[in-house]
Amino acid sequence: MRQATVYIDSTALQYNLNRVKQLAPNSKIVSMVKANAYGHGIKDCLNALEATDAFGVACLEEALEIRRLGYLQPITLIEGVFSADEMTQVIQHQLECVVHHTQQVEWLLAHKDQYQALDLKVWVKLNSGMNRLGFKIPEIINVIQRLKAEGFSCVLTMHFANADTDHPLNEQQKMQFLQVKQACEPILTSCCNSAAIYRYPELHFDFVRPGIMLYGASPFADKNVEALDLKPVMTFSAEIIALNQIQQGEYVGYGSTYVATQDMTIAIVSIGYGDGYPRAYIKPNFVAIHDQLIPVIGRVSMDMIAIDISNLNAEIGTKVELWGNTRLVDDVAEANGTIGYELLCRLSQRPQRRLN
Ligand SMILES: Cc1ncc(COP(=O)(O)O)c(C=O)c1O
Repeated sequence: MRQATVYIDSTALQYNLNRVKQLAPNSKIVSMVKANAYGHGIKDCLNALEATDAFGVACLEEALEIRRLGYLQPITLIEGVFSADEMTQVIQHQLECVVHHTQQVEWLLAHKDQYQALDLKVWVKLNSGMNRLGFKIPEIINVIQRLKAEGFSCVLTMHFANADTDHPLNEQQKMQFLQVKQACEPILTSCCNSAAIYRYPELHFDFVRPGIMLYGASPFADKNVEALDLKPVMTFSAEIIALNQIQQGEYVGYGSTYVATQDMTIAIVSIGYGDGYPRAYIKPNFVAIHDQLIPVIGRVSMDMIAIDISNLNAEIGTKVELWGNTRLVDDVAEANGTIGYELLCRLSQRPQRRLN
């Protein structure tokens, strides 16, 4: 059987959740499990995240899957509902909505009594400069005042555009958030994703919303997971399926982009972009074998890659780590001009999945 396997380490996931608890001991944790738990597989991750206070998802379908699997924790729909008729399911499955435009407020008000009877909070989104979702100042203050007057329990929420860097917009976003918070007291508040959990302990407030850090990848370009004391949850591996001795001047792979500079031994590995392994290759990329980094050479095909094993003893069947504890997903992402988030989320259905 072709070996292209995603291993999920539930102990690592629990370790990372504990790291959130250590960093934000006074906040409730809304674990972001959207996009199939960042590509890790929702079922296994929910089980490992049992100690979380709540879950965050991008849409109703993702929330319903969590309920179908039997989890009763609060769930926040971080983009709210997409149409009035979704409110029926929101009530039926006890989901908490973000509201970021006025129609959503009207849809919510139409279900006011049922929503409030279930003790569900409404998350009101501030657009503090990212210009993705949310109400700007001063409109948000009117929205919150109206919802409060109607008897809703509100959470003021926003999202940083640059929590991973020192961008000047951070200060504006922070000041606007604090301004609205002050104008609407008493109110629950939430503004920290993974990067902000590390950078802004003073902004942890009532709920933190970690995503990438739970999965043991780094939200920062300049800090790896070891420095952040996180453990990679996913190991993506494949195995050697062929060995080739090639001579100086011979080509490897599609487009013949790689030319051997000397006689060498190369191995073909059962992984390709059809599995979700990236093909961009903007910088030298590596896999790991027995904790040693091995160069990827030539183009990534749909089902295979070539690696240079001239300095290593390997054979057909030798296991190759594409990313995991030795070759970090963030480093593979960097070599391919993307971010760990994307590589994790865009794995295809083809690799087998195993729980460690
Ligand atoms: C509203 C919101 N909160 C929290 C997160 C989690 O972010 P991260 O994975 O960077 O921790 C996201 C992710 O996109 C988000 O959209």
